Amino acid sequence: MHRIAAVFAALAAAAAAVAGCSQAPLRPGDPAAGRQLYESRCSQCHAPHEPAEYDRVEWRGIMRQMGPRAGMDRQMQEDTFSWLEQHCAGSASR
Ligand code: HEC
Repeated sequence: MHRIAAVFAALAAAAAAVAGCSQAPLRPGDPAAGRQLYESRCSQCHAPHEPAEYDRVEWRGIMRQMGPRAGMDRQMQEDTFSWLEQHCAGSASR
């Protein structure tokens, strides 16, 4: 019984290691962190665009292009997107 549990634990760890090799698992986006990132990083080359200028699909594409330009890792991009998503065109809380 314990032996089998240990085998499963080892398999789970190995699977996690393989997954972690290419991409670390992301936390859900944190909008508060995202807002700060947006203000500090996305105003370096141009004035920051109003979130309401684009809808969430457009922001997804923009973040793919601009996130790496702003030196953001994937988690930072996810945080920033989660804030944009709350204030973008078509969102309820804008
Ligand atoms: C290294 C400089 C740089 C940084 C940092 C940067 N941008 Fe940009 N951005 C540009 C340039 C240059 C353009 C002009 C269009 C192009 O070259 O794609 C642009 C254009 C844009 C546009 C207009 C796109 C369009 O289709 O008209 C948006 C929106 C935008 N950036 C958002 C962002 C966001 C969000 C961030 C932060 C994640 C960011 N930018 C960070 C350089 C930058």
